[in-house]
Amino acid sequence: MGIDWSRVVSVDDLRRLAARRIPRPIFGFIDGGAEDEVGLADNRAAFDRWKLRHRVFVDVAQVDTATDLLGEPSRLPLAIAPTGLAGLAWPRAEVALARAAAAFGVPFTLATPSTCSIERVAREAGGRLWYQLYVLRDRDYTMKLGRRARDAGYEALVVTGDLAVGGERERDARNGFTVPVRPRLANILELLGHPRWLWQLATHGVPAIENLADWGGGNQGAQTLAAMIAAQFDPSVTWDELARLRDAWPRKLVLKGILAAEDAERAVAVGADGIVVSNHGGRQLDGTVAPLDALPEAVRAVAGRIAVLMDGGVRRGSHIAKACALGAHGVLVGRATLYGVAAAGEAGARHALAILADELGRTMALLGCRSVNALDARCMRRA
Ligand SMILES: Cc1cc2nc3c(=O)[nH]c(=O)nc-3n(C[C@H](O)[C@H](O)[C@H](O)COP(=O)(O)O)c2cc1C
Repeated sequence: MGIDWSRVVSVDDLRRLAARRIPRPIFGFIDGGAEDEVGLADNRAAFDRWKLRHRVFVDVAQVDTATDLLGEPSRLPLAIAPTGLAGLAWPRAEVALARAAAAFGVPFTLATPSTCSIERVAREAGGRLWYQLYVLRDRDYTMKLGRRARDAGYEALVVTGDLAVGGERERDARNGFTVPVRPRLANILELLGHPRWLWQLATHGVPAIENLADWGGGNQGAQTLAAMIAAQFDPSVTWDELARLRDAWPRKLVLKGILAAEDAERAVAVGADGIVVSNHGGRQLDGTVAPLDALPEAVRAVAGRIAVLMDGGVRRGSHIAKACALGAHGVLVGRATLYGVAAAGEAGARHALAILADELGRTMALLGCRSVNALDARCMRRA
């Protein structure tokens, strides 16, 4: 059934649509957070702790949301965050997301555990591409992933640091979510209630982690996500490893999952080009400081030497404006575009970006800010 997009006016509307259109275990995997999901909720609530302070009688006939991200132009101060296993929601979701990003002129980040390969996304989507790397126990294979991203023209490597071990996502356990997805008797009714998703599964097959297809340790039998992470991701990685990665990777290097000013300092010391202040969308350690609240100290620590991005809880254009006003160069969005892709593939992802772009432009106009640079501390007060 077609979607009447004129009635889908916010990211929350897209979320509701996604919840209806994909089976509960998949929606729970996308939507959920760790343990009590306190961090998940607070990521978003943090934005409401800042109140906007508009200026009037400013000429805002022309508002420009464009900016530079990692030294290259972007139509919005926004990139799509890496989200593993996105293909569970829609066949080849990573290509759909990357195409939506390219159409919008914003970067897309491909996750290590993605259902489309590094090469496929480069070939079928194009646009500005970043590659997110987890350091796997198999170091040779980890380095090979980096070389593949380099050869396919990815402009930045985003190394995630906040997943030493898997967070406890209780919704996944309750829903019997496994990787790869195995329809189980207990879920059959739920799956039958989503014939379109089932049809996609029947025609495209159960999505595998295509990106790691040539790796012996890659695709194994159905297991919990935490078991997969424990078996394959290396929890002993330290800053020394990042210094080696810095030497090996010739382009932009970004460290993701930074919350403490001390770590922001170390990122500068190790030669990174940027950080993402993030708690993995509240999916790892529950009850952290919200990334928006951690942002000012990270911005102070970095003192303009490298780029500071943030993510977690961005569902509105005004959230992007608030992050920029606190000193972020831009934000990443994870779930906002995932809800879109889960609802309607590339068209849904584009719709999510269109909503955010529209809201940001309107927020800037109403604030009296013509450019992203004009978004600064004077635009807000802490509630
Ligand atoms: C379904 C899902 C899968 C994710 N997979 C990864 C991943 O593979 N690598 C990574 O660095 N972050 C991953 N993240 C975290 C996102 O990159 C990002 O930090 C987070 O989604 C931001 O919060 P938001 O969803 O509220 O925008 C994932 C997030 C979601 C929702």
